[in-house]
Amino acid sequence: MTREVWIVGSGYVGQRLAVAEMAGGARVHALARSEASLAALASLEAVCWRADLDQPSSLAGLNVHGAGVYYLAPPPSHGRTDSRMQTFLQAAGARPPHRIVYVSTTGVYGDCGGEWVKEDRPVHPMADRAWRRVDAETQLRSFSDRMGVAVVILRVPGIYGPNRLPRERLEKRLPVLRESESPWSNRVHVDDLVAALQAAMCRGVPGVVYNVSDGYPSTMTDYFNQVADALGLPRPRQIPRAEAEQAIDPGMRSYLAESRRIDNHRMREELGVVPRYTSLVEGLAASIVAEDGAHRLPTRSRL
Ligand SMILES: NC(=O)c1ccc[n+]([C@@H]2O[C@H](COP(=O)([O-])OP(=O)(O)OC[C@H]3O[C@@H](n4cnc5c(N)ncnc54)[C@H](OP(=O)(O)O)[C@@H]3O)[C@@H](O)[C@H]2O)c1
Repeated sequence: MTREVWIVGSGYVGQRLAVAEMAGGARVHALARSEASLAALASLEAVCWRADLDQPSSLAGLNVHGAGVYYLAPPPSHGRTDSRMQTFLQAAGARPPHRIVYVSTTGVYGDCGGEWVKEDRPVHPMADRAWRRVDAETQLRSFSDRMGVAVVILRVPGIYGPNRLPRERLEKRLPVLRESESPWSNRVHVDDLVAALQAAMCRGVPGVVYNVSDGYPSTMTDYFNQVADALGLPRPRQIPRAEAEQAIDPGMRSYLAESRRIDNHRMREELGVVPRYTSLVEGLAASIVAEDGAHRLPTRSRL
């Protein structure tokens, strides 16, 4: 029997996931909002469902009965709750799926003072964007209890991969925080995230949270330096924290207020996902090679 899979929020990760699921023989239904996403999904031969999670009526008649749902749509950009998740669960409740795999973020842990963070660490959201993720996780747990639907949560750090590198930021020569003051940050290559998503759908333990990362945290400044080297661009200028309060945009500053190192043992040992890209050098080289069209591996690359 053909496996039925739904992808809700079919952008950068979702489209790659669709390709991987179709290669494995699944019938993929993709919920998408924009023309661009719908066109990309149609070219992949996914079954498209046009809907906007900010417009509950657009989900009327949704039928995800018995399917596996990957929920990848971000929460709205304001407030501390995830109204999109609420809308989706309300619509899905009429004909519920057998499982939901949710992409949350490691931001739910808040600032951990650079400590290694396992999944049993209590959440401590600081930024509103992290509160919204905690709200989404809470909604899913309650839905699971009420409806008997298996829910698996992946907490994901910065995603990078082909065409998802901070090229523009580096080209604009925007400064970064001085290395010695830069917090720990974590990443995962998009292909490894797709592998983790599929593993979570097949064998993730219902109710369990899994951290997803390459297992090799480094500072944010190191990340920008390594991307610059890989792209053959100048490394960004480093500035002290006092100066950064003025010179670095508020979005980026909020990430610089949190430091943690994500422990991925549960992902490796219990979910059986061994990341293919454990170092940025390998992951960035593979990303640049795979970039389509305009961007090519520069000859000045140190790789
Ligand atoms: N970027 C990171 O480093 C990072 C880290 C941790 C977690 N995450 C999360 O991981 C998930 C997947 O990331 P991604 O990079 O694939 O994100 P993405 O490329 O922005 O894709 C998200 C998709 O969600 C859809 N979406 C947004 N609002 C919607 C709405 N109101 N109704 C229906 N669809 C809606 C968008 O659809 P349209 O294209 O049709 O507008 C978009 O295609 C996101 O939740 C993201 O926040 C990202």
